[in-house]
Amino acid sequence: MGDGRYSFVVVSNRLPVDRVEEEDGTAAWRRSPGGLVTALEPVMRASGGAWVGWAGQPDIDLAPFDNDEVRLVPVKLSASDLRLYYEGFSNDTIWPLYHDVIAQPTYRRVWWDRYAQVNRRFAEETAAVAAEGATVWVQDYHLQLVPRMLRELRPDLVIGYFHHIPFPPYGIYSQLPWRTQIVQGLLGADVIGFQRVADAGNYARAVRRLLGYRTATGSIEVPQDGAPPRRVVAKTYPISIDTAAFEELARSPEVQERAQQIRRDLGNPATVILGVDRLDYTKGIRHRLKAYGELLEDGRLQVGEGETVLVQVASPSRERVEAYMQLRDEIELTVGRLNGDFGTISHQAVSYLHQGYPREEMAALYLAADVMLVTALRDGMNLVAKEYVAARGDEDGVLVLSEFAGASDELRQALLINPHDIAGLKDAILRAISMPRDERRRRMRALRRRVREYDVARWSRGFLADLEAVRGPAGGPPAS
Ligand code: F6P
Repeated sequence: MGDGRYSFVVVSNRLPVDRVEEEDGTAAWRRSPGGLVTALEPVMRASGGAWVGWAGQPDIDLAPFDNDEVRLVPVKLSASDLRLYYEGFSNDTIWPLYHDVIAQPTYRRVWWDRYAQVNRRFAEETAAVAAEGATVWVQDYHLQLVPRMLRELRPDLVIGYFHHIPFPPYGIYSQLPWRTQIVQGLLGADVIGFQRVADAGNYARAVRRLLGYRTATGSIEVPQDGAPPRRVVAKTYPISIDTAAFEELARSPEVQERAQQIRRDLGNPATVILGVDRLDYTKGIRHRLKAYGELLEDGRLQVGEGETVLVQVASPSRERVEAYMQLRDEIELTVGRLNGDFGTISHQAVSYLHQGYPREEMAALYLAADVMLVTALRDGMNLVAKEYVAARGDEDGVLVLSEFAGASDELRQALLINPHDIAGLKDAILRAISMPRDERRRRMRALRRRVREYDVARWSRGFLADLEAVRGPAGGPPAS
């Protein structure tokens, strides 16, 4: 739009690209980490809208700019905003609390205060770029107060919110000192989307317990002074990937050749096992290394020419949060031990890569892997599992998938595991390695059907259709 206002606006903590300093001091843009960007990028390219978010560096003033046909509107965050709002409240309070308290959440009032302030800033910047009656789609747990703030600032807008991570059961959620404000913050939206049926149910229960509002399957009635209640849709929209684009990438001769090269570089093992995660304590990397290490110790797996290797990509994440620093130390100690005990001069037990990679390299790694391990202890969805399936146009490869990842609701033909059950995980790894070709093909075909049919376009279409249905009959402001 010419007047700098847009009829479709996405708001998330991060923009799809991060500003980074190169070694020579110049600034460059790099794709942001995580599943949120993977899912939303194709949606945004098709929409011609604006994307409001942080540019990945503290204290920089940046004017709005175009990237890949999308208008990016940077929100400035100071170093202290990042410490209190992002590293503190978002990633040391909400993240562990919403992931079943796998790590202990910390509750600090100064973090909460700054979270509310920064949410207000996001709401104000969004209000400034949204056209009259625009559709605004708020993303994820960093911005749970934005829907309500935005509704107060701009009652003309149609507001959606999608929650990319789990929403915990009330027994856990109720620990949060600001539990009522967060529940109310989300209710400012017209449509609230969750990954799993259980997440939507947990949220509706929190609304009933804290506010006493009536809920039905898929909706909540918000009482209004002197007017009929406002109906908020709150239901499940499992997120996905751009399956066709990923398939095409994996089919390209460069990626196919690169996959073969990776196997040669690994010393031609019979079996390549792969793990790909942000280096996060929710991903179950420790459990995976424990199971693999025990299989080597038991002599049920060997390292060397014609044997097995585990490739673990652990992309750097939230490196200034204490729990992440500790996790990194533990993982790297364990990897070092496994390589010391079981590696040879020419072959490692674990090929460990603490780096992020472009999509082409990821597709090649998926193709090179006989077994993909997704052992999350809790995960909103896990798009890595879906990418692995999309890449396997050869209908080969075995996906071992945690039942605690949202993806397990859909990817039923994977080998489903409980990552806490180390004996069960070891058996599943061995079963995956020795699975006959016919069974591999049968399972992978069924998985591919699912991921093709339920791709990211379907996810966004479903969500946005429900959001548009909220508008009044003349396409004007939302009916209340
Ligand atoms: O999908 C969960 C998520 O937290 C996204 O919201 C986020 O962009 C991504 O993981 C990566 O995390 P971060 O932005 O903290 O690096």
